[in-house]
Amino acid sequence: MKALCWHGKQDIRWDTVPDPILEHPRDAILKVSSCAICGSDLHLFGGFMPSMKCGDVMGHEFMGEVVETGKETGDLKVGDRVVIPFTITCGECDQCRRGFFAACERSNRNRDMAAKVFGHTTAGLFGYSHLTGGYAGGQAEYVRVPFADHTHVKVPKDIPDEQALFLGDILPTGWQAAVQCDIEPTDTVAIWGAGPVGQMALRSAVLLGARQVIMIDHLPDRLSMARAGGAITINFDEESVLERLWDLTAGKGPEKCIDAVGMESHAARSLDSLVDRAKQAMWLESDRPHVLREMIYVCRAGGVLSIPGVYGGLIDKLPMGASMNKGLTWRMGQTHVKRWTDDLVKRILDKQIDPSFVITHTKPLQEGPDMYRTFRAKEDGCVKVVLKP
Ligand SMILES: NC(=O)c1ccc[n+]([C@@H]2O[C@H](COP(=O)([O-])OP(=O)(O)OC[C@H]3O[C@@H](n4cnc5c(N)ncnc54)[C@H](O)[C@@H]3O)[C@@H](O)[C@H]2O)c1
Ligand SMILES: [Zn+2]
Ligand SMILES: [Zn+2]
Repeated sequence: MKALCWHGKQDIRWDTVPDPILEHPRDAILKVSSCAICGSDLHLFGGFMPSMKCGDVMGHEFMGEVVETGKETGDLKVGDRVVIPFTITCGECDQCRRGFFAACERSNRNRDMAAKVFGHTTAGLFGYSHLTGGYAGGQAEYVRVPFADHTHVKVPKDIPDEQALFLGDILPTGWQAAVQCDIEPTDTVAIWGAGPVGQMALRSAVLLGARQVIMIDHLPDRLSMARAGGAITINFDEESVLERLWDLTAGKGPEKCIDAVGMESHAARSLDSLVDRAKQAMWLESDRPHVLREMIYVCRAGGVLSIPGVYGGLIDKLPMGASMNKGLTWRMGQTHVKRWTDDLVKRILDKQIDPSFVITHTKPLQEGPDMYRTFRAKEDGCVKVVLKP
């Protein structure tokens, strides 16, 4: 079959690879109908994530039709149309039973490696390095779904691919980011990063009743998409983020801050960001935490920092004193996708939310290598790419 494979920094290729086969009775094989490129894929594309190997099949946001199942896939049958959560979950371990699906204790085949690096294992993920299990991803014609009896979301007939696809990642990710803020009707929610995750977090914060939502980025197309979703916007190339945030909150600062940027933050004129870049280039620091520093500084005392943005390793010069003395609450993590999807399917059917608004490019899968470059460079107004095998 054909698939998009990783071959090193900024090198994704349209390769021929072996067809996936059932390896366990709980496996299913999915024929992919739609898949997407996620901002998290850019960290792999940029070479910032360790433990990738040449030829690894990319992709963790995908859906399609079940074409083969093992003997233990429960109510999942051949012919079912499903979205696959990017976090692979057994549904039975202690963490899965607590709803901490992204911390599934069984699904990561390389759990010993993960435990050594992080202290505990985290769930297996599709197409996301060998630290998370080394599973082939879904930017492919077919994909093997392990623990398929639990790792799937059935899609009602009335929901087209474009509205269903993001149930596997960015929609629940934006939703979890907003839910973790414990939004009160008097709250200002500030969101850094108007990419697909930030856009979903914005729609979620509005649905959850925030008084005002402010979106920070420097890409005009993305900021106008955010205004269409009800946000006040700040362009960090043109204005001071801190001054605008003080102004918009009568000097108090936002009660809730969401980091939808993560380890590759940019900053126009800030010294800390220049230092981070130099250190990252010399492997003295793995991630650039400019957004975290800004959030800690501006968040109202007693507020919440919610961090869906992915960090991979070690960061420097974090103002822990400010965070501690202001009593900030930190919430973060890979998304517990299955915790949110029943509710989100209902909200899509009720037309409370239509996540397809974020799609700017739909292309054949073989154009994936070019679309990685377009999405990374944010060219051509690119916000979200959907690929069709
Ligand atoms: N927690 C999870 O489970 C999960 C799931 C999906 C994605 N993610 C992560 O969420 C983050 C966003 O994903 P995405 O798909 O929206 O990516 P994206 O790259 O399309 O968007 C990131 C946006 O951040 C903006 N940005 C950069 N520096 C900034 C700054 N200093 N201030 C404000 N904005 C800034 C960029 O211009 C860009 O628009 C990534 O780190 C991704 O890995 C996490
Ligand atoms: Zn993702
Ligand atoms: Zn589990």
